[in-house]
Amino acid sequence: MTTTLPPAAPLASEAVPPPTAGRADARQEVLRDGTRVVIRPIRADDIEHERRFIGSLSPRVRRFRFLDTINTPSAELLRQMTVVDPATGVAYVAVIGEGAREQQIGVARFSAPGGELDCEFAVTVGDAWQNRGLGTLLMRRLVEAARARGMDAMHSSDAADNDLMRKFAQHLQMQHQRDPQDATLVLYSLNVRQSRLLDSQPVSGSEARHSPLA
Ligand SMILES: CC(C)(COP(=O)(O)OP(=O)(O)OC[C@H]1O[C@@H](n2cnc3c(N)ncnc32)[C@H](O)[C@@H]1OP(=O)(O)O)[C@@H](O)C(=O)NCCC(=O)NCCS
Repeated sequence: MTTTLPPAAPLASEAVPPPTAGRADARQEVLRDGTRVVIRPIRADDIEHERRFIGSLSPRVRRFRFLDTINTPSAELLRQMTVVDPATGVAYVAVIGEGAREQQIGVARFSAPGGELDCEFAVTVGDAWQNRGLGTLLMRRLVEAARARGMDAMHSSDAADNDLMRKFAQHLQMQHQRDPQDATLVLYSLNVRQSRLLDSQPVSGSEARHSPLA
């Protein structure tokens, strides 16, 4: 899908989160296979992580995420993806490793530049990390942030042949319908208020769990 990104926040020093920003909001999560990952807000200094992450995606996954609109992201797009104005959206990265060995393995975001109560979201998990519960954990963070903003729903427009999204959406009990304007697209919608993603028990089949980082 193609999330419409708002213009990146200005690069004035007071507007750019310092490298440590968001650390309090970092959480350690455990995937179904026992792998420990950290999910935290994206930061301006994640630009190289994001570049490498997108570069590492298979052509199929990249097409599903960007609908053929992007192959190699420009420097400006990478900046828009990593410098997020909290007034208009959120973005979380999933990382493994520490310090110089930190590696991005997933990312999720929503954007509501006009204060929409039904906003557009996107989630991507690296090929090697799929089907271990990471996408579900990333969506939980989005739903939590959306609820905190009083939002009603999140939606995504995806390729009709995106079987990964179809299964994922079914798992998360999203509504879906063919795009009446474009038969190659399916519109997915998640009811933020009614979603069971934040129930104390994770959605069925997922044993992934989370805890705040000390
Ligand atoms: C869609 C996507 C984010 C799912 O991420 P993920 O980490 O694989 O999702 P999870 O592991 O949390 O899987 C959730 C459920 O989806 C289903 N599922 C996901 N991938 C599957 C696969 N390859 N085969 C079978 N089922 C799969 C399972 O039913 C799983 O349910 P379970 O927890 O009961 O086993 C990931 O496949 C992806 O990045 N796809 C490419 C980009 C994209 O299409 N993004 C969506 C539009 S923006």
